[in-house]
Amino acid sequence: MNLLLIGPPGAGKGTQSKRLEDAYGLVQLSTGDMLRAAVASGSELGRKAKAIMERGDLVPDDLIIDMIAARIDQDDCAKGFILDGFPRTVPQAEALSAMLADKGLRLDHVIELAVDDEAMVKRITGRYTCVTCGQGYHDEFQKPARDGVCDKCGGTEFTRRADDNEETVRNRLDAYHGQTAPILAYYKNQGVLKGVDGMADIDAVTAQLKGVIGQA
Ligand code: AP5
Repeated sequence: MNLLLIGPPGAGKGTQSKRLEDAYGLVQLSTGDMLRAAVASGSELGRKAKAIMERGDLVPDDLIIDMIAARIDQDDCAKGFILDGFPRTVPQAEALSAMLADKGLRLDHVIELAVDDEAMVKRITGRYTCVTCGQGYHDEFQKPARDGVCDKCGGTEFTRRADDNEETVRNRLDAYHGQTAPILAYYKNQGVLKGVDGMADIDAVTAQLKGVIGQA
């Protein structure tokens, strides 16, 4: 089964992808995570992407499409994947359709997480992750059970993203509405777009998603 989650920065794509990975045995493919790994490694792709990401603009389509095409070819994707943060433009959506058709694959569910912009600024500026396992948390909405200790792996080091400040978040929201929202019409025209209320609490959103996707 292959899933696509669509929503603006902070909508909960990463949070819900991790839960759906566990529930359905799928692999999360986050282009944002892949790009941050490229930046950290100092690769050519990372050097090209770094300043663009810090501004909150979109990385050029050709770089992203090559990166995701190589990732989908890896063995672990055969069990099914969750696309998180890709596609983000209509050309990326068209390239994905062509890529999947070539491989005899399809998207089983395309799901929009519908949210309000203002709430996203609060979600993103309060977000942090465990350095060891990548588990996500929030200062207010998703605290670890023991303060300063990761629920998943017991790690005690946490990090915040360089692009999670208010100014960059507002630019990322503009990029979403200008360049990414048109892919909703692309999938709606294909009759595959579904939606959930992303403003509900985290467990309630997971329950809605499972309702759309069905039993594992
Ligand atoms: P990327 O890493 O994809 O960031 P994003 O789309 O801006 O999305 P986020 O990761 O910020 O949000 P999310 O929806 O995953 O929210 P989360 O679950 O963490 O992209 C970063 C950059 O890379 C882009 O700006 C661009 O430059 C580049 N890039 C990436 N892909 C690209 C592409 N395809 N093309 C071109 N450029 C690309 O939730 C946020 C917080 O809220 C968390 O703390 C969480 O605990 C909390 N939360 C989640 N759900 C709820 C809820 N229901 N209620 C309360 N709190 C909640």
